[in-house]
Amino acid sequence: MHTPIYTQRLLLRPVEMTDADGFYELDSNPAVHAYLGGHVVTKQEQSEAIILHLQKQYRENRIGRWAVIEQESGRFAGWSGLKLVNTHTNGHILFYDLGYRFIPDFWGKGYATEAGKVWVQYAFDTLRTNRLFASADSKNKASIAVLQKLGFVADGEYLYEYRPQIWFKHQFNDF
Ligand SMILES: CC(C)(COP(=O)(O)OP(=O)(O)OC[C@H]1O[C@@H](n2cnc3c(N)ncnc32)[C@H](O)[C@@H]1OP(=O)(O)O)[C@@H](O)C(=O)NCCC(=O)NCCS
Repeated sequence: MHTPIYTQRLLLRPVEMTDADGFYELDSNPAVHAYLGGHVVTKQEQSEAIILHLQKQYRENRIGRWAVIEQESGRFAGWSGLKLVNTHTNGHILFYDLGYRFIPDFWGKGYATEAGKVWVQYAFDTLRTNRLFASADSKNKASIAVLQKLGFVADGEYLYEYRPQIWFKHQFNDF
């Protein structure tokens, strides 16, 4: 799946090495990582390595996190997408996880929800999965609000790197 997807205000496409500056702006910002364990990057090469890692996921799993471009400005706003999780997480393995991360300039505009809708639909209509999960730090109110708007419901808590995470399942299928 490599055809770009347009929403009302966004363009979603696979991540490219030319996104390295955007990835560095995103992941070097402590505010972005406030609920992600604080693992900020400090060198551009780290962002390039992240991009190579995401591209490897595309090759191995035919899906992964995609770049989100704001159509109006043409700027890299962040990423959003589905990751095939193949390690045990909260008692589950081999499932799709919805994730997203945006540069603060683009927060509060509904972009995470607008992009997330694409992936919820893609998971059920194209991948035909009956399992779609997501996690958010229990204090990450904005992310929790996004997941709820997308139709996810909280289904317990677990610890990731010693931080309490709320486990969300999509209510499309009650399993
Ligand atoms: C979480 C994040 C993706 C949200 O992106 P966004 O584009 O601002 O999200 P949206 O505008 O689509 O929706 C945010 C919702 O959260 C609400 N919200 C924001 N901050 C809030 C807070 N402190 N308390 C309660 N609700 C809050 C907004 O009001 C909005 O809901 P509404 O549309 O019903 O008003 C963005 O803040 C981000 O990238 N954060 C850093 C990375 C991150 O935490 N990623 C998620 C990991 S699980």
